[in-house]
Amino acid sequence: MRQELHPLAEAIASSPVLGGATGEPGIEPGLRQPKCRVLASYTTPQGLPVARYYDDAVPAPTVVILAAGEGTRMRSSLPKVLHPLCGRPLIAWPLAAARQAGAGKVVVVDGPQRRLAEHLPVDVVVAIQSQPRGTGDAVAAAAGELRAGETVVVVMGDVPLVDAATLTALVAAHEAAGADATMLTAELDDPSGYGRVVRDFAGLLERVVETKAEGDASPEQLAIREVNTGIYAFEGGALLAALASLDTDNAQGELYLPDVLPRMRESGGTIGAHIASDANVTLGINDRVDLAAVREIAQRRIHEDHMRAGVTIVDPASTTIDVQVQIGADTVVEPACFLLGATSVGERCTIGALTTVIDSQIGDEVTILRSHLDRARLGDRALVGPFAYLRPDAVLHERAKAGTFVEIKNSTIGAGTKVPHLSYIGDADVGEETNIGAGNITANYDGRTKHRTTIGARVHTSVDTAFVAPVTVGDDAFTGAGSVITEDVPPGALGIARERQRNVEGYAERVSRRER
Ligand code: UD1
Ligand code: CA
Repeated sequence: MRQELHPLAEAIASSPVLGGATGEPGIEPGLRQPKCRVLASYTTPQGLPVARYYDDAVPAPTVVILAAGEGTRMRSSLPKVLHPLCGRPLIAWPLAAARQAGAGKVVVVDGPQRRLAEHLPVDVVVAIQSQPRGTGDAVAAAAGELRAGETVVVVMGDVPLVDAATLTALVAAHEAAGADATMLTAELDDPSGYGRVVRDFAGLLERVVETKAEGDASPEQLAIREVNTGIYAFEGGALLAALASLDTDNAQGELYLPDVLPRMRESGGTIGAHIASDANVTLGINDRVDLAAVREIAQRRIHEDHMRAGVTIVDPASTTIDVQVQIGADTVVEPACFLLGATSVGERCTIGALTTVIDSQIGDEVTILRSHLDRARLGDRALVGPFAYLRPDAVLHERAKAGTFVEIKNSTIGAGTKVPHLSYIGDADVGEETNIGAGNITANYDGRTKHRTTIGARVHTSVDTAFVAPVTVGDDAFTGAGSVITEDVPPGALGIARERQRNVEGYAERVSRRER
C-alpha cells in the first residue's frame, strides 16, 4: 500500500530547515513510506505555519474520552470531569489535546444522567454507559462509533495534562509497530493510585494490575513504578473483539479496559507500551488533592507560555491566569493578579498588583491599578483605578478613565472622558472628552425599572451631581455642584438644581447667649 504524500508533507520532508522533521515534539517522526493514519499537529520548531496532512483515504483516528465514572473520591455533587481547572472543566482538557492533535471523531462516554452534553461542543458524539461497570464497559458503550481498520485513541476524562504532542507520538509509535494496542505508560516516583504495568521476563508488556481496591495487586506488584496512564491507541477491530471477551473476575467486579491487552496477545496480536517522555502529562485526578497538584503544573505551563511570548509576570507564584486568557507582548502583570475566563489583554499594558479581571477585553497600553473588572471592555490607553469596580458591559473607549472608588456598569464612557473619583455610573452613555465631577451618581433605578442617563460630549459635571434617569445632558453643558438633575439640560447650558443658601447672621452670638 503505497500512499501519495501531500505536497506540503513532501516540502517538509525535503526541507533542509526542518531536516525531514524527525521526532521533535509535535512533529510526526519521520515520513517513512508507506504512510498511513497519522494523528498529527504540525507546528515546526521554527514556528513555521501549522501544516496538517493525513491521508484522505483513511480517516483520522477516533478519540474516545471516558467520563461516565462516578468520581466518588471527589466527594462532590458536581461530576468530576466538570470540576474547573484553570478556568476550563477537566473534560475540556483532553478534548482540546485531541482536537489539536487532529482527531477525527471525538466520542465522550457519559453516564445515564447525561450531564456532560451541554458542556461539550456540538460536534462531539456523546455515548451513554448505563451503569459504571468499569473502563472496559465504558469503551464498549462507544462501540457503535468505532470501526475495524481505524485507529482508536482512548483517553480518561480525568487526565487533563495530556497534550497533543503526547497523543501524536503515541499514535505514531502504535502505527509504526502495526500493533493491536499500544498503552502509554509512565514511570512515577509515587505510583500510588495507578494501575501498575507488569512486564514478562523478556521485558514485554504483559498486563496491568489495578490498585484502587485491595486484592488485585501483590506487594511486589505494588512496588512497580511504571504505571498505566489510561491513554491507549488501538486497532478498532481488535479492540471491539477483545472488549467482548472481558470479564469481571477482579477485586472491584468491574470490566477493566487494560484487560483487553492480554486478551489481544492471547489471540495472536501485538501489544506494546510507549513510555511518556514527560510523566506529568499523564497525571490523573481522583480527588481534590490531585486537582490542586495538577493545577499547579497547569498554571506553571500557562505562565511559561505567556512569558516566552513576551509577557512579564512579576511573581508567578501569586498570579492566577486561566488557560483561555490572551495577553499581548510587553504587558506587565504585577503580583497577586487574577486574569480569568475569556479575558484578553493587549500589548504594553500594566495590570497592577491585586487586580482581578474576569471575561473582559482590554486594549493596548491600558493601565489598571488594584481594581476588579467583570465583563468590561477597555479601549487603548484607558486608565482604571486604583480601587475601581467595572461591572458587566462597562465600556471605556480609548483614553477614558475610571478612577478611585468608581463603579461603572452597563455604560459607555466616551473617548478621553474621565470619571476620576467616588462615582457610580450605571445604565449611562457618556460622550467624548467629558469630565464627571467627584461623587456623581446616576439614579438609574426607580424601584421597578432601570432607566438610562445620557451625557453628551465635552460636558463638565460638578461635584455631587445626581442624575435621576431617564435624563439627558446635552453636549458642552455644565451642572452645578450638589445638583439633582431631574430634567434634561440643553446643550451648552448650566443645569443647577439645589436649594439657595441662606446665612443666619450672628448665630454663634445667639447660641452663647442662650447658654449663659
Ligand atoms: C484507570 C486505570 C488504571 C490507570 C488509571 C490512570 C482501569 C481499570 N484502570 O484507573 O490502570 O492507571 O486509570 O489514570 O482502567 N469511567 C467510566 N465508566 C466506568 C468507570 C470509569 O466512564 O465505569 C471513566 C471515569 O469517568 C474516568 C476514567 O474512566 O474518567 C477512569 O476511571 P477511574 O475510576 O478514575 O480509573 P482509575 O482507578 O483511575
Ligand atoms: Ca482516575
